Amino acid sequence: MADRADGFVGVFDSGVGGISVLRSLVAELPHEDFRFFGDSAHAPYGEKSEDRVFELASGIAERFLDEGAKAIVIACNTATSVAAAELRAAHPDVPIVGIEPAVKPAALAFPHGRVIVMATEVTLRLEKYHELAEHWGGTCEVVAAPCPGLAARIERGGLDEPDLTEMIRDLVGEWAGRADAVVLGCTHYPFVRRQIAAVLGEGVRFFDGGEGTARRLASRLDETGLLAARERPGRVELASSLNTPDELALYQHFYELPL
Ligand code: DGL
Repeated sequence: MADRADGFVGVFDSGVGGISVLRSLVAELPHEDFRFFGDSAHAPYGEKSEDRVFELASGIAERFLDEGAKAIVIACNTATSVAAAELRAAHPDVPIVGIEPAVKPAALAFPHGRVIVMATEVTLRLEKYHELAEHWGGTCEVVAAPCPGLAARIERGGLDEPDLTEMIRDLVGEWAGRADAVVLGCTHYPFVRRQIAAVLGEGVRFFDGGEGTARRLASRLDETGLLAARERPGRVELASSLNTPDELALYQHFYELPL
């Protein structure tokens, strides 16, 4: 019988953003097989109804499980907020790891500072974010900055085009020179860290949830006896619901892009 530990980890997002998390996962767990699925045909999730995000996210998770995934990473803050709890309840024997805005490390680093949380409208609307902001925003100021349109624009690539920096200026420019830290609360945003720094000031510190998510997956696999053998090399597959050669080339580009 095949060993369950030899199975793959399914990783998904609404599109290219989750590739930023995938990179942290591969760095932390180089012996694992990862299958990444980006739902670019339905991106962005962050501006859809919660019911629709749930339907899309649970459809992808169920498909991964049908294909034999040993664990799942929801590499999307929006889908985690909407669907993680129900998916875990439905599949208690499968490690299902989500991602949340890294408010905690930012607040600990700047206990008297101003922390800007950039994320989608859905993420910032839901309970999970409000609990985080309330819990960690004790002495520092936690500012929610919804960024409609930004994930969809990143999906199109061309990250050095001036319109993208202009869009960021419109969304968060009011905090230029007045922010200590930025939480990248959407997995698309680490790909435009440089452009955000150009708007807010080079001194700003960035926090994202990728590494924390990778450590969490490593400990969940370890405690459930599902870590892959250390002598095997891991494999990474990238797939998209927008299954065109151009889109897959864009995914590969994001996978290799220096950050
Ligand atoms: N990358 C996703 C997140 O982390 C969502 C982007 C979107 O599709 O709106 O929230």
